[in-house]
Amino acid sequence: MEPARRGGRGAMLPLLGALLLALAAGVSAWPHDGAVGHGAAGFASGAGGERRYRDLAQRRMESVRSSFGATRRDLATASAGARVYHVTDYGADPTGAADATDAINKAIADAFRAPSNATMTGGIPDLGGAEVHLDGGTYLVKAPLTLPASGGGNFRIHGGSLRASDDFPTDRYLIELSAKGSSRSYDYEYATLRDLMLDCNYRGGGVSLVNSLRVGIDNLYVVHFNSDGVAVSGGHETMIRNSFLGQHMTAGTDPGERRFTGTGIRLDGNDNSVTDVVIFSAATGIMVTRPANSISGVHCYNKATGFGGTGIYFKSPGLTQAWISNCYMDYTSIVAEDPVLLHVSGSFFLGDANVVLKAVNGVARGVQVVGNIFSGRDKGVDIVQLDGKFATVDQVYVQQNSATGMTVKSTAARGSAEGNGSSWTVDFADVLLFPDRIGHVQYSLVAGNEFPGHTLRNVSGNQVVVATDKAVSATVHVLVDQNTN
Ligand SMILES: *[C@@H]1O[C@H](CO)[C@@H](O)[C@H](O)[C@H]1NC(C)=O
Ligand SMILES: *[C@@H]1O[C@H](CO)[C@@H](O)[C@H](O)[C@H]1NC(C)=O
Ligand SMILES: *[C@@H]1O[C@H](CO)[C@@H](O)[C@H](O)[C@H]1NC(C)=O
Repeated sequence: MEPARRGGRGAMLPLLGALLLALAAGVSAWPHDGAVGHGAAGFASGAGGERRYRDLAQRRMESVRSSFGATRRDLATASAGARVYHVTDYGADPTGAADATDAINKAIADAFRAPSNATMTGGIPDLGGAEVHLDGGTYLVKAPLTLPASGGGNFRIHGGSLRASDDFPTDRYLIELSAKGSSRSYDYEYATLRDLMLDCNYRGGGVSLVNSLRVGIDNLYVVHFNSDGVAVSGGHETMIRNSFLGQHMTAGTDPGERRFTGTGIRLDGNDNSVTDVVIFSAATGIMVTRPANSISGVHCYNKATGFGGTGIYFKSPGLTQAWISNCYMDYTSIVAEDPVLLHVSGSFFLGDANVVLKAVNGVARGVQVVGNIFSGRDKGVDIVQLDGKFATVDQVYVQQNSATGMTVKSTAARGSAEGNGSSWTVDFADVLLFPDRIGHVQYSLVAGNEFPGHTLRNVSGNQVVVATDKAVSATVHVLVDQNTN
């Protein structure tokens, strides 16, 4: 409970007294110290009830002060075990009118004073669970909130909104976990950024994580970014979850959609996961340039592929090692350059969104696009499409997908031909994904009472030709697979 935390044990009784007084006076909520301590624009005018409210809070503060004989600032930081740093205690203006950069950075710096000599991975100081609390305010920042280069782990920043000023540097991020010039492998560990709304004001980006380990990005709403919503560089195990990212506040069919730029999430590192995230406007939803990242439960309607957007882009040709499941690609496609180990399953593609395999060196190996559903607009768009020529194709499985209004492409197919003669052709060119590639064929010939000699004549051009040694009336059933195994 707030008062107990603030005052410490010694202040419990006066606080309770004030609380009871407040309740008796019909006050329904307990004000936050920060709001009161800094003039509280919201309480300054208005009814007598509000004034009473303020007076009570003021009295409470005085009793806390006298019982400690110290300033509130000292209370927040000095009492043993109280490691919650309220930015309003540092003079940060929670109304968003005045620049709060220095105040919040001071709170962060204090939170980074390690309470013990305990360390985490590679000697990162263990901050013991310190919290930088934004007190539910909105803060204007003219420069990034930066973490001390000394590094730190086991801390969180949460509970408020940040808005970039009109002169915020366009190449920076509102919150930066980055220790420039550090010689450590990792500088920040088990950091949590939670319950934050970040308004980048079309200046820079939202969050930048550099060489960080085990970071939680949880319940963020990042908007108006010019570069990226969240950018992860190096390090590993950043979990981006339950968050909403968009360059523009829009709910779809935005008249300006063709002009959306920026990237919702950029993963220039490995071993990260993105789960339960919505990206509602950006040229690229998620850009992945390193292997071993997983994406699940993501809804991308950031910029329709028809307008030049991409939902999820894998730009790590030859080393994809990524798995996507349970996603909703809403008019936005998945693009993978030279996919090597890529899994896409259980996802819904709407509005002609598809999976594009883009050839760089022409290698596709270990690709599974299986068990997805696609809905299109009868424009003949392929559910999986090749962009360029693939010379090396190995273990590529595009199978058991279902579509309406789009053309199903597959790496395995079945078909049949019936007629009277000595040659039967089953054409798989429309359904097979790779041109002129059949790795495996199985056929059976049904010819009533006849018993002709027959053979597989030709499989070029994704067509299977079966011939008999005499003219018969027959049906030929064929199974083909573009893989050889
Ligand atoms: C941390 O280590 C230093 C140097 O060994 C020592 O002087 C200090 O007492 C230690 N502090 C704590 C809180 O253990
Ligand atoms: C198949 O073709 C042969 C020769 O052209 C003809 O004799 C035979 O009647 C045909 N059989 C059928 C079922 O059409
Ligand atoms: C198979 O068919 C293609 C195209 O019709 C042809 O060019 C090729 O020579 C045929 N191969 C054989 C072994 O008959």
